Amino acid sequence: MVTETIQPTEFKLMRTYIEKNCGILLGEEKAYLIETRLAGLLAETGCADFGAFYRLASSETGTVLRDKIVDAMTTNETLWFRDGHPFQILKELLLPEFAAQLLSGQRFRIRIWSAASSTGQEPYSIAITIQEYCREHPGLRPDQFEIIASDISPSALFLARAARYDASALGRGMPDELRSRYFKPDGQVWVLDDAVKKMVTLRKFNLQDSLDPLGRFDIVFCRYVTIYFSDAFKRQIFEGIARLTSKGGYFFTSAVENLQNAPDLFEPRSHGSGTYYRSRLD
Ligand SMILES: C[S@@+](CC[C@H](N)C(=O)[O-])C[C@H]1O[C@@H](n2cnc3c(N)ncnc32)[C@H](O)[C@@H]1O
Repeated sequence: MVTETIQPTEFKLMRTYIEKNCGILLGEEKAYLIETRLAGLLAETGCADFGAFYRLASSETGTVLRDKIVDAMTTNETLWFRDGHPFQILKELLLPEFAAQLLSGQRFRIRIWSAASSTGQEPYSIAITIQEYCREHPGLRPDQFEIIASDISPSALFLARAARYDASALGRGMPDELRSRYFKPDGQVWVLDDAVKKMVTLRKFNLQDSLDPLGRFDIVFCRYVTIYFSDAFKRQIFEGIARLTSKGGYFFTSAVENLQNAPDLFEPRSHGSGTYYRSRLD
């Protein structure tokens, strides 16, 4: 008989396991999240209860079960041009600044990182903003911008790679004009134009790992992800991003992830109703 109800001791073990493997910190009241999100895996593995499931997950030498657990526990909620203002700031302030450097030959390439890219809406919104900017500014080319998009969730990355979205996904923030310019219908789905797709390099990356091997970035988007992490882990990520964007790089986060514990790392700047950040590190 399978016991789908998680016991307090099992919850403690699973909670520690999840934080260790992806940084997501579950509050005491979140036992139901483990029960609901991992019920399918519990059944799939044939474990009788969450105690046996924890032992299997911990003893697993491969990454298969761990990946499935992390996949099930992450929240991949996203939309196109989320919050509006980061993309407006990109278009009105940052792209003009970096375009001037590209056009003068001072720089050859601008690097942008979407640090929790989910199913692709964020990095592809950045790429479309750049495509639009290049259309209006002859002499600039989309291939002068490199966008790295990463996420820990294999299923989110799979969907981002496919870049095929149904009408309800596109209905969440994609303006009709941009949909007609950058997507082609294929039955019930809309397929993203290859020119936009090829601007984005997708990779699996856990924000718990050192950020330094990713190289330096001019702009980092790390949005709606640190809300799930402990204060210590947030601070570690913000320090990493401040290092990667030192000497004049910019950082976008969401309004719910205010940088209260990192005033030494970033200088907040306002534009319209939005805030963006500049690294204070040299
Ligand atoms: C709510 S989505 C936000 C997507 C996008 N940034 C946006 O604002 O629309 C959060 C994403 O963070 C990813 N995530 C959670 N923990 C992570 C970790 N430790 N490393 C990398 N990505 C992680 C999840 O898989 C999920 O796709």
